[in-house]
Amino acid sequence: NSSKDLAGLKFVVTAGPTRESIDPVRYITNHSSGKMGYAIAERAAKRGAEVVLISGPTHLPTPPGVQRIDVISTNDMYEAVMNHLEWADVFIKSAAVADYRPKAVAVNKIKKGEGDLTIEFTRNPDILKELGKRKRNGQILVGFAAETQGLIANAKAKVETKNLDFIVANDLTKEGAGFQSDTNIVTMIDKYGNMEHYDLMPKKELADTILNKIKSLLGRE
Ligand code: C5P
Repeated sequence: NSSKDLAGLKFVVTAGPTRESIDPVRYITNHSSGKMGYAIAERAAKRGAEVVLISGPTHLPTPPGVQRIDVISTNDMYEAVMNHLEWADVFIKSAAVADYRPKAVAVNKIKKGEGDLTIEFTRNPDILKELGKRKRNGQILVGFAAETQGLIANAKAKVETKNLDFIVANDLTKEGAGFQSDTNIVTMIDKYGNMEHYDLMPKKELADTILNKIKSLLGRE
């Protein structure tokens, strides 16, 4: 796909994990590498789209032609995404967002004692769900689902509850799928109920497959 077939479209892509502080020196996060989102941003820019990549902490270089905004926490990501609510034609939410954050961030480093430590967590905003509520006619919203059980049923439910155009579901129990890996194995489910399964493929190739699906939903064949 060497043509600029996505020219004129504005993409917001989120990628990577988020990081939630516990105290001034500690945080919790997850194993997301950001590879899937960065591959999508890279391919979309190559294909002529204007791309804003909103990224949690990763070790990846910014793809050529992509405007990158770095964020740390889910709340930071929420704000950066919502700032592009009007601007974007397409939102691709491939970030592995932390659903919870410590209820309070300790001002000083928590000292160890003899016994156990309990940390209370509170819910973070669901960025994708909020986008689903606010999306305007013609805007495309793509979510990701990563599960260790009940993948397809959960993914189908998310298409509805989050008002998505489609979801990319990856089965974390399969070798070569999900976090860290350069490959993925996914099922795409759209709002019309169409389901397409893709066997093991490089994330860069999958990025093009996802972009092709968006293109066809936008009626740009
Ligand atoms: O419900 P679940 O977290 O599994 O849904 C995954 C999708 O929702 C991903 O696209 C992820 O980026 C997005 N998400 C979000 N904000 C959250 C949690 C998940 O945007 N707080």
